[in-house]
Amino acid sequence: THSIPVIAIDGPTASGKGTVAHRVADKLGFHYLDSGALYRLTALSALRRGTDLADEHALAKLAEHLPCSFTGGNVILSHENVSDAIRAELVGNTASKIAALPSVRHALVGLQLGFRKAPGLVADGRDMGTVIFPHAPLKVFLTASVAARAERRYKQLIDKGIPANMEDLLMDLQARDDRDTHRAIAPLVPAEGAHVLDTSHMNADQAVDEVLKWYAAAMKS
Ligand code: CDP
Ligand code: CDP
Repeated sequence: THSIPVIAIDGPTASGKGTVAHRVADKLGFHYLDSGALYRLTALSALRRGTDLADEHALAKLAEHLPCSFTGGNVILSHENVSDAIRAELVGNTASKIAALPSVRHALVGLQLGFRKAPGLVADGRDMGTVIFPHAPLKVFLTASVAARAERRYKQLIDKGIPANMEDLLMDLQARDDRDTHRAIAPLVPAEGAHVLDTSHMNADQAVDEVLKWYAAAMKS
């Protein structure tokens, strides 16, 4: 599988990774891995089962045997469509906490590597370029100011009819950034050789075009 191209897209919450990675995958006809969904699925399973969030061993076991699948853009857990359930704030926060546990990260490696299938993969998350696909021919670190990202999350929530408060969003975003950046294992940092793209003043399509240009250039060299 080492010859199958991977585009690794990492970055902080609400930087546009999911949107951009998805569109790039569509344009190239590549598979898409939303690695954050795997941490969210583990968190959702744990919350539903009442697993002790301090029990690393039990959480790793859950992660290792996640009965999940991704079909038609939906996230399925034991035959149930949990696409919306995994997006809940509580699930995201729990995901970011359990993502700091080495055994949980380790348990999810094989599942992530399995997404690398012909003709190619676009993978988004926090450690796609640093840990999971360190030899990816293209690595991108997407970022944007805290204010721009909070604005995006706010708009996403309001569009979905979910009430949102800008101050809470800013605080939550900073707490999440802090945890993801300062954890001991697989912290959020640009991978070696990553192209850093600050999208504070860009729309998603402009970011997609940049990534496609870099990819075309990487394939030529
Ligand atoms: O996956 P991640 O948390 O990084 O972000 P997302 O869920 O893709 O959300 C980003 C939101 O900002 C979406 O509503 C996008 O339409 C919007 N957006 C973007 O993705 N990229 C920009 N350059 C500007 C806005
Ligand atoms: O949508 P948002 O960017 O906030 O989060 P996500 O990509 O769905 O990931 C949820 C949480 O899982 C993040 O806050 C990270 O702590 C963790 N995560 C990770 O540690 N490594 C990844 N490759 C992806 C997500």
